[in-house]
Amino acid sequence: MTKPFVYITRKIADDVVSALANEYHVEMWGEEETTVPRDVLLSKAREADALLTMLTDSIDDELMQQAPNLKVVANLAVGYDNIDVQAASRHGVIVTNTPDVLTDTTADLTFGLLLATARRIPEAVKHIKEDKWTSWSPYMLAGHDVHHKTLGIIGMGSIGEAVAKRAKGFDMTVLYHNRSRKEQAEKQLGVEYRSFDDVMTQSDFVICMTPLTEETKGMFNRSVFKQMKSSAFFINTSRGAVVNEDDLYDALQAGDIRGAGLDVFQQEPIQADHPLLQCEQVVALPHIGSSSFETRTAMMWLTKENIERVLSGEEPKTPVNV
Ligand code: DGY
Repeated sequence: MTKPFVYITRKIADDVVSALANEYHVEMWGEEETTVPRDVLLSKAREADALLTMLTDSIDDELMQQAPNLKVVANLAVGYDNIDVQAASRHGVIVTNTPDVLTDTTADLTFGLLLATARRIPEAVKHIKEDKWTSWSPYMLAGHDVHHKTLGIIGMGSIGEAVAKRAKGFDMTVLYHNRSRKEQAEKQLGVEYRSFDDVMTQSDFVICMTPLTEETKGMFNRSVFKQMKSSAFFINTSRGAVVNEDDLYDALQAGDIRGAGLDVFQQEPIQADHPLLQCEQVVALPHIGSSSFETRTAMMWLTKENIERVLSGEEPKTPVNV
């Protein structure tokens, strides 16, 4: 009997690949920096029993129509907006993601980005490395305090809760808005539920943690930014497309908000000449929310486990559509 075929769409850890290769026929797009070309992905998908995918791969109806053996798409991310989950269900394909293992790492990065933006840390690093530090002065590179301020979290999933926990250590008041109330988090962390509008108008920092869906696409637009305090900061570590970037740029230019910390963009990689990257008040990162060696490795092992479980007829550990 031929072994099931697992196709991995980007170079991942050798020991995860070897462990999969003990049981399956495994092939991998061996590049670390480039996305698998669409024609290669489609031709591999035609033969594959399992795909181990990245958030940069579009796994759509067109692909699944041509993949008669495909049983599982194991995405190396908690977000799965790159996958047409409804089409997967129609084609009997199980989709899995990597929640939980990345929660604390992504929360660390989110809170770090907030601190970096408020306290102008990247600007200060540049200042000293470019030999611009001529003398200490009272307001040199002065930023804004984080402690004792009000943080608003839009989208209170487990990463939102982990961010709230960190904020409490900074004596912040934490407001949140979510589709459903999080009573446990309210009790344990002292976070307070508010309407979307109240979170936007009352917060000194707004963190977007909502997944990208048809409903959330472009939800942070000019009128939403206008609701925010002119002294407030907007932080996004979720998905770029929940923000209307032209509107964010206009809001920053008009002084509707004070600054933004962005780990995600509508178009990734964002081009260096993008208007948002020309704004002094923007701290930008290249989508590294969950990028620590420990967490990315744990994510890889979890995708492996999900593939193994599905191919041996068991329930996957972290299904999206079962
Ligand atoms: C995810 O897992 O969805 C993150 O965006 C990856 O860093």
